[in-house]
Amino acid sequence: MNKITKKHNKNTDIHDNNHTDRHVDWFRQSAPYIHAHRGSTFVILFGGEAVVDETFSHLIQDIALLNSLGVRLVIVFGARPQIKQQLSALDIQSEFADNMRITKHQHMPAVEQAVGQVRVSIEAQLSMGLPNTPMAGASLSVVSGNFVTAQPYGIRNGIDYCQTGNVRNVDARNIKLQLKNNNVVLISPIGYSPSGEVFNLRAEDVATETAIALNADKLIFIMENNGVTNNEGDLLHQLDLPHAENWLNNHGSKDDKDGYAHSLQSRDTQSHLSNAAHACRGGVRRVHLLSRKINGALLLELYTRDGIGTLVTADNYEGLRTATINDIGGIIELISPLEQQGVLEKRSREQLELDIHNFTIIERDGMIIACAAIFTFPEQASAELACLAVHTDYQIHGRGDDLLQHIEWQARKKHMQKLFTLTTQTMHWFIERGFVECKTDELPMEKKSLYNFQRNSKILCKELS
Ligand SMILES: CC(C)(COP(=O)(O)OP(=O)(O)OC[C@H]1O[C@@H](n2cnc3c(N)ncnc32)[C@H](O)[C@@H]1OP(=O)(O)O)[C@@H](O)C(=O)NCCC(=O)NCCS
Repeated sequence: MNKITKKHNKNTDIHDNNHTDRHVDWFRQSAPYIHAHRGSTFVILFGGEAVVDETFSHLIQDIALLNSLGVRLVIVFGARPQIKQQLSALDIQSEFADNMRITKHQHMPAVEQAVGQVRVSIEAQLSMGLPNTPMAGASLSVVSGNFVTAQPYGIRNGIDYCQTGNVRNVDARNIKLQLKNNNVVLISPIGYSPSGEVFNLRAEDVATETAIALNADKLIFIMENNGVTNNEGDLLHQLDLPHAENWLNNHGSKDDKDGYAHSLQSRDTQSHLSNAAHACRGGVRRVHLLSRKINGALLLELYTRDGIGTLVTADNYEGLRTATINDIGGIIELISPLEQQGVLEKRSREQLELDIHNFTIIERDGMIIACAAIFTFPEQASAELACLAVHTDYQIHGRGDDLLQHIEWQARKKHMQKLFTLTTQTMHWFIERGFVECKTDELPMEKKSLYNFQRNSKILCKELS
């Protein structure tokens, strides 16, 4: 009996240790993101579908956690299903044109009631603080108000959209004041005109215009879909603005020439991506499109390196750039395991400092995930490609190729006619990219004298046309 108990305990200990290690690793990996996001302003949009879902409390808990990690939050919510339900109860059929609801004047009381109920329900959830729940000690302060001024959407193609409106102005100054006071700002899809009229707005537009007005660090769309996919249905993790616009051009028209099925889902993605592109053009640097059906989507997207949705960026997110002295630590972290395995030749920190401007790096969210260096021998019109490395988590996605192409471009720009590299374990990678094996004699004199015969590296050369 004792023996069994002991054995059981031992297994439990191993299990617990693994679990603890994973937890500690995860927490440590999140630390840079916790620092990076503190004090940032995020605008988060979710639809009315999320509010009625049984998992809504999880989303609210994650939002509360962001708040306690120092993120300034503006929440914009939609209420489409709730408005539909209110109108149906009155036997009114919802009418849409161009993906916009036509809101007749007499429908507004139902719209206001539906939106009001959703707002109260969100406020109630954000106010929870029961002990033994993830909301314990959260103590969020939520503010909502007339932050959005609206104007009529008007008559388009002969259709009068009545009380459906456009965002005319967002009171950024007042929202910022609330955020500074550590309040979470809650904004509904309702806007008011200076004449006192009430307009029904698209929540996506409210979120987008709010993010632009605030110059928010992030706009986050929590959607019914996974994110943006290619024609094969694979999730596109990252799109810069030109690629987002290209996707919209290819999938945007309602009568797609390539027969792209315009399901409700694709229309939803299209509409969110179109808003994301608009936000990027308006100065919002990063827009995330996430599925609300993934448990913890917000946390996974914001506090892990790779995220789980589609990121639309206004800038070159994964920057390939020349290294600076500040990158030395990151480069050492990347290459030292490879040096220990004998894949790369050992370089001292001092040598790296001297050569740093020869290095090109790829940076992702502040972490150096790939590097390569070029050394030129002008007398022989040849250049060496050295220290090529891609972090194991980021291999097989063409980054090695990107760096090689960049180094080849640099060599050509410096009028080099030949590129060579020394390798012990990566011969075939280079051969598949046009390199051929050559003799030590073919190395520039300077390099030949330094050749480490003990290491016995293969020398591979490529003529640069
Ligand atoms: C070699 C290296 C830079 C390639 O980076 P990468 O970003 O994965 O490269 P790419 O995505 O452009 O290419 C991936 C392809 O290379 C292949 N590949 C990776 N390592 C290879 C090796 N040692 N030998 C042959 N092929 C290799 C992959 O299998 C993949 O092939 P596939 O497209 O047929 O699936 C990366 O594997 C690395 O950092 N390796 C360790 C360091 C190293 O060897 N550097 C070269 C020192 S001289």
